[in-house]
Order: sequence, then C-alpha cells, then structure tokens
Amino acid sequence: MTKRASPVKNGQLFRAFLIGSIGAGLLGGSALSGLQAKPATDWPALAHPIAKDAAMEARIAEIVAGMTLRQKIGQMTQADIRSVTPDQVREHYLGSILNGGGAWPGGKKQATVADWVALADAHYKASMATDMKVKIPVIWGTDAVHGHNNVFKATLFPHNIGLGAARDPKLVGRIAHLTAKQVRATGITWAFAPTVAVVQNPRWGRTYESYSSDPALVRQYAVEFVKAMQGNLTGSDTTIASVKHFLGDGGTYLGKDQGETRATREQLIRTHAPGYFGALEGGVQTVMISYSSWTDTGAGKPQGKMHGNRELITDVLKGKLGFDGLVVSDWNAIEQVKGCTRTHCPQAINAGIDMIMVPDDWKQFIEETIVDVEKGVIPTSRIDDAVKRILRVKMRTGLFDRSPIPAASAEADMASDVMRTTAREAVSKSLVLLKNNKRSPLPLKRSAKILLVGKGADKVTPQLGGWSLTWQGDETDDNDYPLADDMLSALQKAVGDGGKVDFSADAIGVDLKGYDAVLVVHAERPYAEMKGDISYPASLRHSERYPDDYAALERVSGKGVPVVSVLFSGRPVYANDLINMSDAFIAAWLPGTEGQGVTDVLFGGAKDFQGKLPFDWPGASCPETARKPVLFRRGYGLKLAKKSNLGRLPEDGVETCPALAE
Ligand code: BGC
Ligand code: BGC
Repeated sequence: MTKRASPVKNGQLFRAFLIGSIGAGLLGGSALSGLQAKPATDWPALAHPIAKDAAMEARIAEIVAGMTLRQKIGQMTQADIRSVTPDQVREHYLGSILNGGGAWPGGKKQATVADWVALADAHYKASMATDMKVKIPVIWGTDAVHGHNNVFKATLFPHNIGLGAARDPKLVGRIAHLTAKQVRATGITWAFAPTVAVVQNPRWGRTYESYSSDPALVRQYAVEFVKAMQGNLTGSDTTIASVKHFLGDGGTYLGKDQGETRATREQLIRTHAPGYFGALEGGVQTVMISYSSWTDTGAGKPQGKMHGNRELITDVLKGKLGFDGLVVSDWNAIEQVKGCTRTHCPQAINAGIDMIMVPDDWKQFIEETIVDVEKGVIPTSRIDDAVKRILRVKMRTGLFDRSPIPAASAEADMASDVMRTTAREAVSKSLVLLKNNKRSPLPLKRSAKILLVGKGADKVTPQLGGWSLTWQGDETDDNDYPLADDMLSALQKAVGDGGKVDFSADAIGVDLKGYDAVLVVHAERPYAEMKGDISYPASLRHSERYPDDYAALERVSGKGVPVVSVLFSGRPVYANDLINMSDAFIAAWLPGTEGQGVTDVLFGGAKDFQGKLPFDWPGASCPETARKPVLFRRGYGLKLAKKSNLGRLPEDGVETCPALAE
C-alpha cells in the first residue's frame, strides 16, 4: 500500500489509470499497490472451505429427478415482493423472491420488523404447501449492502468506500456478521453483498459500493466479509452472501453504469477478479452477474454482455474457479443480452445463470423458458444443473430443516448497542483527514462555540447515500431515521451543556464574532446506480454540481474564524477550491446513521484519524485529460498529531471536459 504523507507531485500514475479505463491499456490497481508481489496472470486454483457432501448430493439428485419441468423453471425464478404474492409462490413453485430497493412489506416505508417477519413467514409457508413431492423452501434475497438498509430503524453502517478507507478487515467481518443478524431478524436468509467492484473511474455512480481500487484489499475484505456473514451456514445469525457483480463492473469505459469494460484477459484476472477469489475462498454460495459488457482488448474482440458470457460464467467461474453454488442474474439484466427480452433469454441460462431475477414479468418468463426446454433450445441437463445448484445452496443453509423465521421478535437486533457502537467505530475509522494546516482548530474543545453550516448538516440522508430505505436514498427524511444522528445532533451531543452549537444552512447574514470554529458540511445528494453517474464530459468538481456548498463556505472562510470542512460523498471529487478555503478538510464518505462517529474524532475523543484514501483523489475537474490528474494518491491520510502544510492549490473551473477520441 502506498503510504505517502505528502500530496503527489506528479500524477502520472492516476492519469495512466484513468486513461486506462478509457481504453489505452488499463493499468491494474495491483500495479499501483505493490501488495501483490506476483499478480496472477491466469485463473488460480482456489481452495474451497465447503466441500460437497455425498449424502446431500444424493438427496438433491433424487428430488430433482422427481420434479416436473414447470417446477424446475419455477425454482429458477426470482420475483420481487411488489409483484408476487405468497399464493403465487406456492402455485408457481417459485424458488426465490427479493425486495428490490424501496420494496417493503405492504408498501410501507416504515414497516416494522414484525411486518417483515410476517411476510417472510407467509412466503415460506406458501412454498412448503405446494403439491411438489418434496417441498422446497423459497429463499428471500435482499440488498443489505450497508446493514439491512431497506428496513426502518436498522442501524446503517458506512458504505463500502468508507470501510475501504478504514483498512480494517476484521471490522469488515464484524459488520458483515451484524448485517447478517439484522437480516435474519426479519426472516430473510440471503444478502446481495459484498460488492467487490474495483472501481477505475469515480464518475461511476456505484463508486461508494466499492471498497477500493486496490484489488489486494478488496480480496482480503471479501474473504472476511463472506466468512463472517455466512458463518457455518446454518446458524440462526447467519445469511448467505452474494458476491457481485461478476465480472468487471468497476472497469467500464469512463465509469458508465452498465457500460463496456475494455480490458485484456490478464487485466480482468489481476484487477477485477481478486474480490471473487477472496469470496470463493471464504465459501461464498452465490454470485451475481454484472450488467456490464466486456471487450477483450487483448484479442480486440467485443464479448458482449456478461449475462451471456458462457466462457467466464461456466468455464471460468464454475470450472476453473470451482464454484459449486448458484449464479443469479441482476435485475431485468437478461434483456440486455443480444437477442433476448426481459422474459426470454436462453442465452443467459445456457451461459450458466441458474436463477433469473425477473422481478415483475416472472410468469411470462416461466412460460417462455418451458417452451425453450421443450424445443431443446436449453438442454435439460443445464436446467437440472441449475436446479441442483439452487437446492444445494438451500440445503447447505439448513432451509430444508427449519423455518427461517426468528424464534421471538428480534426487533432489538436492528439497532442494538453492538450495532450502533460498531457502526460508530467504523465511521471514526473511515474518516480521511486531507488537510490540517496550522490554523486548524482540530481537535475541537467540548467548551467550544461552533457555527455549523451547510444544507447537508441538519439531515441524515446525505450521510446515508443510496440504498437507504429507498433505492436512491431519496424520498426520505429524518422522520424515517428516528435513531440516527446527523451532524447537528451529533455536535450538540458532543458539546453537551459545556459548549454551544448554532446552525445556518447557508451562512447568510451570520455574524462570526465569538465563534471558536466553523464546521461546514458539503454533501452530494443521495444516488444509486446510473442515477449517480457523473457522465463524461461533466466536471468532477463538487462546486460545479453543488454551488450552494461553495457559496456557504465562501461566506465563512477567511473571516478570522478557523474553518473545518466535512465532505459527505460517494466518491472522491475534485475539491481544490473547497480545500483552499478550509483550514482542515475531511473526506467522510457516506458514514450511515451514526453521525457521532464523526464528532468522536473531531473532538479528539476517539483515537486519531486513521482513514487512508481508498482511491486516488482527483486534482482536476477532468482527470481523464489533465496534466496533473491526482492531488492525493490512494493511501494518503493525515493524523491530527501533525499539522500539514498544504499550500494554495491550483484551481481549475472547467465546466465541460474536452471531447475525447474514442
Ligand atoms: C433496483 C431495484 C429497484 C428498481 C426500481 C432496480 O434497478 O436494483 O432495487 O427497486 O430498480 O425500479
Ligand atoms: C443492482 C444489484 C441489486 C439488484 C436487486 C440491481 O439493479 O445492480 O446490485 O442487487 O438490483 O435490487
């Protein structure tokens, strides 16, 4: 890992890095990290902790032999709870359900744990009441990507980018285990996590779901996460994990969501695959496929959408890498495979996808797939293999032997003390101090008189980002997070009766006299997936996208009171102008519900800052074409103990980036 205590003078590497993702020979993150002495150049032979069990395999074969084609295709189908009833699960033998982002029992955003459990119970019971010879329990999957984030009152942990900054694999394991506990408390046994994308360009709207651009770190985290979440597979506090999105999701051209990853095979192996190696070594039971496509720049050949890539899914993942669990498709992703529709894609099944996420149109999918098998377009052997894999996973988790429903109400598990203190610890460890010049007032005193500024400072949603109660993290407010602390409440708690905190969103007309420090919060609006893309040629400059943050800072900067800036963002952004106007600058990522984790460090109560940048930090609005694209390299992060001496940074105000040659 790079351990630089000073800003980068020469940004060549980052430039090569970004240019790489533009197509001119992508330079893998591992090349930067130096952690992998000898990066793999071929698919490695992996050790799998969970061996096949002969008696279990015999039982599975017997069950599959007794199933009708319709029952088998039903098992391969996953529907969203908004589009399916328990009765339909029974009638159509559905193998799985999910709640997509913003799907709650009864459509109620504030559904209680009891509501979740009741719905899980209804679906489970329905699946055990089919007319199949051997009843097969339905399995419910959910996007628990930073805690059980679709559930009201659940403690939400920092998004992955913050955990990447914390550089603490054991902490990642503890969070994965606590997340499993939250999920199990609602009667759900499958989490669509971890995301092991190795993001190459922060324009991607899913950058915050990525731990780091360092494949070695991602691999290490994946092992810890999967082991801790899955435990012994049958425990009442474990869920199965789903490593996603296979393969190359973080490497798309210019960071476009669901875009085209241009890389050689070796670059796939070295940069994008290590997270899967880790997850497989941890015993992961499910793998979700990526929306992206792959163009093999070595062979100069487009390989099309990953959902149709038989070589990588069947020959590599299930063959060379020895994965014996189930492969699930992403949300309506099959329709993007050439020649497919939302309800019809023999290519995807033949490529090796076992369970198809067809959230709404599942009925038609079942009918059309049955015809495919009858016509021989999909071989029966492929269907049988898919169903066996699904049953193997269900059997290994003990779903056949006991109901997934928690014994008593486990409501307290959603935000128990250990949930909240662990999340708070994670927040503290994730903060990266980028600037701490002589005039910095850090650490703050409990007796201080503080002015808090910024639109994102008195609400919790900017701390949470996407995948928080709703898909986008929008259409929610503080009322949906009664237990959470935003910056205002966290600061008030920190000073107690000893100090004083005043708040102004825009700092208009505020007299700064008498304040010891100004704390300015800058924040991105929450987003998820493609809605978070900063599409080229848009500028990566935060002030360009959020001029109000800039204006508020300008009103308090240089007025004689020291200024600390805290940035909530799902990605590193270009912020030279904001850094220049601040005496201290903190990248706080998307910390989740426990805002006190931030104040713990600001007031010097917790240990010193320990976060290190998980990605290179841009030094230009358009890093793709800049001469100095990097300001701070991955691994950079200051300590309070030592003041930095960051001079005035150059500022570019580029609104639109220059056109690129394809
Ligand atoms: C997301 C779902 C979400 C849906 C909303 C999908 O792309 O993955 O979680 O519910 O869009 O339309
Ligand atoms: C996302 C996945 C997610 C799924 C289900 C998709 O849009 O890409 O990460 O697991 O929706 O919500």
